[in-house]
Amino acid sequence: MIGRLNHVAIATPDIAKAAAVYRDVLGAKVSAPVPQPDHGVMVVFVELPNTKIELLEPLSDASPIMGFLKKNPNGGLHHLCYEVEDIIAARDKLTAAGATVLGTGEPRIGAHGKPVIFLHPKDFVGTLVELEQA
Ligand code: CO
Repeated sequence: MIGRLNHVAIATPDIAKAAAVYRDVLGAKVSAPVPQPDHGVMVVFVELPNTKIELLEPLSDASPIMGFLKKNPNGGLHHLCYEVEDIIAARDKLTAAGATVLGTGEPRIGAHGKPVIFLHPKDFVGTLVELEQA
């Protein structure tokens, strides 16, 4: 059911420092920081030949990634995003299989203007999973 790896998201308390690591040490193509107030995060997009890395820094204490950073103060792998053809069909299949969709269960418009859902890490090998309609 899942298709391409759309992105890997890494949470960080210091997005400028994280962007510098990807740009200067790893030699990747790195965007300017983009505020996404609807999602409570500042995002830097790192373009790789086969996928993207998204560096996330909370915009405020109310940010959904704040709890993660409290547990992981130096930052770390936050979620993986897989593409699916039909997000409603994917959601219905996964909930029927016992997976937990976070939030209301309805898709939201994600960072790329496409519908997304998030799946609880307890059902997916300890990793928060985002599905994005391709
Ligand atoms: Co994401």
